[in-house]
Amino acid sequence: MLRGQRTIFEGVRHAMPNETLTITDNRTGKTYTLPIDKDAIRAIDLRQIKTGPEDFGLLSYDPAFQNTASCQSAITFLDGDRGILRYRGYPIEQLAEKCSFLEVAYLLLNGELPGPDELDEWIANVTRHTMIHENLKKFMEGFHYDAHPMGMLMSTVAALSTFYPEARSIHDAATRKLEITRLIGKMPTLTAYAYRHSLGLPYVYPDNDLGYTKNFMNMLWRRTEPKFSANPVLARALEVLFILHADHEQNCSTSAMRAVGSSFADPYATTAAAIAALSGPLHGGANEEVLRMLDEIGSKDRVPAYIEQIKAGRGKLMGFGHRVYKNYDPRARIIKQVAEEVFEVTGRNPKLDIALELERIALEDEFFVKRKLYPNVDFYSGIIYQAMGFTPDVFTVLFAIPRTVGWLAQWQEMLLDGEQKIARPRQLYIGKPARQVVRIEEREAPAAMLATVAR
Ligand code: SDX
Repeated sequence: MLRGQRTIFEGVRHAMPNETLTITDNRTGKTYTLPIDKDAIRAIDLRQIKTGPEDFGLLSYDPAFQNTASCQSAITFLDGDRGILRYRGYPIEQLAEKCSFLEVAYLLLNGELPGPDELDEWIANVTRHTMIHENLKKFMEGFHYDAHPMGMLMSTVAALSTFYPEARSIHDAATRKLEITRLIGKMPTLTAYAYRHSLGLPYVYPDNDLGYTKNFMNMLWRRTEPKFSANPVLARALEVLFILHADHEQNCSTSAMRAVGSSFADPYATTAAAIAALSGPLHGGANEEVLRMLDEIGSKDRVPAYIEQIKAGRGKLMGFGHRVYKNYDPRARIIKQVAEEVFEVTGRNPKLDIALELERIALEDEFFVKRKLYPNVDFYSGIIYQAMGFTPDVFTVLFAIPRTVGWLAQWQEMLLDGEQKIARPRQLYIGKPARQVVRIEEREAPAAMLATVAR
């Protein structure tokens, strides 16, 4: 991850003198001077550090990429220490207050906010692609009634690649633009169909008179009324939640999107891989786990005992902690405000009181303070979704819909980055040295391996 500019005064970066790093290899006594650019050295520059001409050269070892920038990106800026999140330079707080989700989607994909004409055209283009092929409905019918919506979403998004084989022309700008628009238009429809499938309800076709989120609500919740009428407070809350979830630089699922996309796979297969990464409980699946955790705690008075369990190492406080934010996640702060507006309409979700007590205690407790564990985007979002009528197994697909915009923006940036190649990290081999195969007739049982398997 590239840290933001080290010293920024009025947006201008004052470079430090002599931006180099001098390394002495004590194995040979040789010294090397590596250039420093944007607070980073190029890992490939380490390869020149060798003990002799046969030596491969030094690698950097960074499990889980905790201190590795995989790319240069102009899309999203995070400052984890100060709790700052900006999309293309705009603070998330201002975008959440002043923009619609499709405005922000246009910004992430194109680098600038749209003017009125551009926005009208963009909305028309996305709206044109809300329908899905009727055969996809048959595909979805193959799932059990209780199939997890994330499993259905990642499968149907992958299946879309068979309906649009031309999407493989990823180097053609017009094709990329069409497929990006298609995916953004269809994600709410696929999600709503998966939700209706789980309830055994007939699918509701898109109503293109409605806006992006109101149409999504229409496909989710319309019953027999001729025209769905969305509650404006809930519709705005969903817009804000979509804006907050749209991108977050090189998180796990975006890294998967970039890695899979670097093989020049089509955008549907690539997005399906990103959805798979998001489904994990340490990532996007956390919002669903938060609700299960709050259900397990059950009441405010049981919060202290639960906290003690976490401190004793029995599980994690779901919705807390972050690889980058070592301060309050700015999105969680906004979501807390949205929660109060939603509860004005839906009635207060009693789980909020348990969550607030968890936060109050955790923010005072040395165990969490020392580890800089604060509420993240997933801590409060599920409480709102539940109050709006969503079941917990749908929460992560509600994350996937807006994050599709971020994934596609990052995918396109990767394809257009002349420095990028197919992602293919190296490894540090710690396995067996070369050895000879013994034929089965002479081979003894692998006691050591059996002992390992038994553990
Ligand atoms: C998202 O990357 C992104 O940007 C993701 C995301 C996005 O928008 O894409 O922001 C969305 O995924 C938010 C995170 C949602 N996940 C959760 O809420 C699950 C619970 N959180 C943790 O699993 C954890 O905090 C992570 C996965 C989010 C971050 O893990 P790290 O950076 O690898 O941190 P770590 O595991 O090295 O933790 C450091 C210490 C450890 O303790 P020690 O070994 O030092 O004693 O903090 C502890 C961890 O055990 N710790 C927690 C904890 N999170 C970290 N202890 C209790 N509860 C937690 N939630």
